[in-house]
Amino acid sequence: MDMDSRQMSILLAYMGLWIFSLLQVAHTAPSSPVECPGSSGIGCTVSNAYGAWPDRSTCTVAKVLYPTTEQELVAAVAEGVRDQMKIKVVSRHSHSIPKLVCPGGEQGMLISTRDYASVISVNTSTFTATVDSGVGLRELVDAIAQYGMALPHSPYWDGVSVGGLLSTGAHGSSLWGRGSAVHEYVIGMRLVIPASPEEGFAKIIEVLEGDDDLNAAKVSLGVLGVISRVIFTLQPLFKRSVTNNFISDAALEDNIISFGLQNEFGDVTWYPSMGKAIYRLDNRVEINTPGNGVNDFLGFQRTPSVIAIAERSTEESSEVKMNAESKCEVAEVQIAALLAVGTGLKNDGISFTGYPVIGYQNLIQTSGNCQNGLDANPLPLLCPWDPRIKGIFFHQTAVSIAISRIASFISDVKKLRSARPSSLCGVDLYSGFLMRYVKKSDAYLGKTEDVVDIDITYYRADNATTPRLHEDVLEEIEQIALFKYQGLPHWGKNRNLGFETVTSKYPNLPKFLDVRRRFDPQGLFSSEWSDAVLGIASGGVSILKDNCALEGLCICSEDRHCAPDRGYLCKQGKVFSNARVCRYEPF
Ligand SMILES: *[C@@H]1O[C@H](CO)[C@@H](O)[C@H](O)[C@H]1NC(C)=O
Ligand SMILES: *[C@@H]1O[C@H](CO)[C@@H](O)[C@H](O)[C@H]1NC(C)=O
Repeated sequence: MDMDSRQMSILLAYMGLWIFSLLQVAHTAPSSPVECPGSSGIGCTVSNAYGAWPDRSTCTVAKVLYPTTEQELVAAVAEGVRDQMKIKVVSRHSHSIPKLVCPGGEQGMLISTRDYASVISVNTSTFTATVDSGVGLRELVDAIAQYGMALPHSPYWDGVSVGGLLSTGAHGSSLWGRGSAVHEYVIGMRLVIPASPEEGFAKIIEVLEGDDDLNAAKVSLGVLGVISRVIFTLQPLFKRSVTNNFISDAALEDNIISFGLQNEFGDVTWYPSMGKAIYRLDNRVEINTPGNGVNDFLGFQRTPSVIAIAERSTEESSEVKMNAESKCEVAEVQIAALLAVGTGLKNDGISFTGYPVIGYQNLIQTSGNCQNGLDANPLPLLCPWDPRIKGIFFHQTAVSIAISRIASFISDVKKLRSARPSSLCGVDLYSGFLMRYVKKSDAYLGKTEDVVDIDITYYRADNATTPRLHEDVLEEIEQIALFKYQGLPHWGKNRNLGFETVTSKYPNLPKFLDVRRRFDPQGLFSSEWSDAVLGIASGGVSILKDNCALEGLCICSEDRHCAPDRGYLCKQGKVFSNARVCRYEPF
């Protein structure tokens, strides 16, 4: 495809929607993941921020409560336990991709932490902060910076809550010190757990550093009870100096480990189809180093709805025409544009004028500007994945591979790329392979070794029965990461197959399950999904049916799991012979 037609389609969409939008009320806030037919909080559904669960089902709940104080939180849990309801906690925005927030059955109770976010209490002599679980990451890091303190690591997307990011093991990138997982900086937690009728059906427990149970509570998938408060250990506020180095990926497997060891906050964004990678040289500098830089990552900036819609329609048209080359061209333009604006780094908080960009930790580590949509005239500005528009829609595979095996993984990906050079262009449209470092953890469900975490985001069709262009290549990479190299799936991302065999990858899982049995013996905070993931239910995480492999609900074992009517058959992997992938081999 030529760029002219892409630009034309964007322009046309822009004009069309410009007129359309004059008639519409523009959105200001992201859509709520919880929707109820009336105002009673009864008969509601819950989704994630992307508007679709991996299996595209609807999660129905009987009741939603919005506690504002710990007392109300205890009362909410007590009500659920008394009535023997399945219970789950959902944050304001619900960014986990798997169904972790869906209570078991269809008559469960949802406790939203949307309004449970008033406490951020900083102690400047002990360098700690005590925080309500509903507090957003952005609010947290900005509040503690006011006191001259910093949380050294966090996810890059700041639209998540403290309770949600901890429960799924969220992280940044570092092999230094305690590493990049936020839970490594937790020194205490208060949880509300089920209790006997004599105790009033719910009680508060405090788990502090030194207590083994904290290793379960820090990363819990939400199955232990409700997190009420978290105590973080903090560091004095510091600045960081960031320089992006966009170079050939020829030596990636040789230098991926040394790069991580040399750069405290370094990460690598690998664009496999381009044969290049952005090495982010990112290190701590003295607090008095000049610079008021801000990281406003381009992919998380407010986007005019028409642009998001045009991007999606361009991608769909490449898919329908089975034209991977057109994706390569768009990816090249997009990456050039990304680099031209320093990926969204702004030296003075306003514009990018060159490297290094130096700024305060809270303004460099994490961003998420689109979360607060704008009622701009004439166009609403929002996150490009906002489910209220037909914008981008994707799968996300995020797997952590031990540093001892990461070089082999990279070599395998390169072999698949050589065999079909344009097959990975679709990935480059979504920030390539984001490679971040995470250290071995004491948390029972934390990383079991020092790892490189790889985030891969890619096209998801509107219809679950529609195959993707070159889908066999990404499926093979996914299975190489998960099964050849025994990678650990991110708890809050991934498709169902990501959790196949996961129980065998966590030697401390029995200890975790023991804590679960003590905290919630009836399993009220467990669901079909968490039981499948943790091996409590025997059925497993896969859903076997026609077309199931297209959406990662299963690994194909028969052609009908792919799309045989469209020429996609279940075949052996090319590099990993144990892989089973849906390959386009018509006739
Ligand atoms: C900070 O922690 C110290 C030591 O535990 C305690 O004595 C002090 O009262 C705390 N300050 C605040 C403001 O909570
Ligand atoms: C998906 O496509 C199939 C086959 O074309 C069709 O039968 C089905 O109705 C579609 N489903 C949805 C939800 O559009």
